[in-house]
Amino acid sequence: MKIKPINAALGAEVTGINLADLSEQDFQALYDAWLHYCVLVVRQQSLTENSLVSFSKRMGKLELPPASEARVSGDGGASLPEIWTISNVTVKGKAIGALGNLEADWHSDMSYRPAPPAASVLYAREIPKSGGNTSFANMYAAYFNMPESLKAEISRLHVRHDSAYTSVGTLRADSRAVEDLSEVEGAIHPTILVHPETGREALFLGRRLNASFIELPNDVSERLLDRVWEHCSNSDFVYEHIWEVGDLVIWDNRCTLHRRDAFDNGTRRVMWRTQIKNTHVA
Ligand code: OGA
Ligand code: MN
Repeated sequence: MKIKPINAALGAEVTGINLADLSEQDFQALYDAWLHYCVLVVRQQSLTENSLVSFSKRMGKLELPPASEARVSGDGGASLPEIWTISNVTVKGKAIGALGNLEADWHSDMSYRPAPPAASVLYAREIPKSGGNTSFANMYAAYFNMPESLKAEISRLHVRHDSAYTSVGTLRADSRAVEDLSEVEGAIHPTILVHPETGREALFLGRRLNASFIELPNDVSERLLDRVWEHCSNSDFVYEHIWEVGDLVIWDNRCTLHRRDAFDNGTRRVMWRTQIKNTHVA
């Protein structure tokens, strides 16, 4: 097994392993590298649904896709209940998975829940020739490199995380449209998270859409959040992943943000995904 850092911001590429047949020792090395680099890219895997689920269970307890993400099976979509399909493919007009071909803005997964997941695992089954790249941003580094004055302004504040919209900006089936910030529903979290496994401090922003600092008037919160987000989307903190079939990417959802480019809906993109519960407490 070789673990090679990708860039100065975050991420490491792992080669020379088969995730379907990984010794306990190699798994521990992989897990430690993941905590350190925040994102792991494991190349050239050929996993079945079962081997993806078995590997994912070594990372932690799995969270199932919400019932509102009802999907049809077939044509590349996964059939095991533990696997979420992320895809633009449709069968008889019905999506086999979530997110379609749209751009997904910067976010961490399900931060609008009281206990957001620790990690997500995304496995590339079919990839278009171009488009659909996924970028990751290091929120330890974003906080560490923030001007002290800005840190001081936000460090004791809490953010409300909107639950109504998906990461591609569509309204969830079980949600009501939100017109102004006072109507937002979703969990409230401290702006600075102490990572329960590493003990390091990271910014925990969720996503920009409909977010607010609950201690501030809305207009003040909007201006401050704009400054924070401008700092965080600095490319110094980012790795952009260009997918190949067989790539498996694991991100730490507590200390990273991710976004995805749109892609041509005339092409096929099929990903299988699992989500790991956060069973660790700071
Ligand atoms: C996700 C997600 C990005 C992608 O599955 O949570 O944001 O590249 N996916 O499809
Ligand atoms: Mn996501």
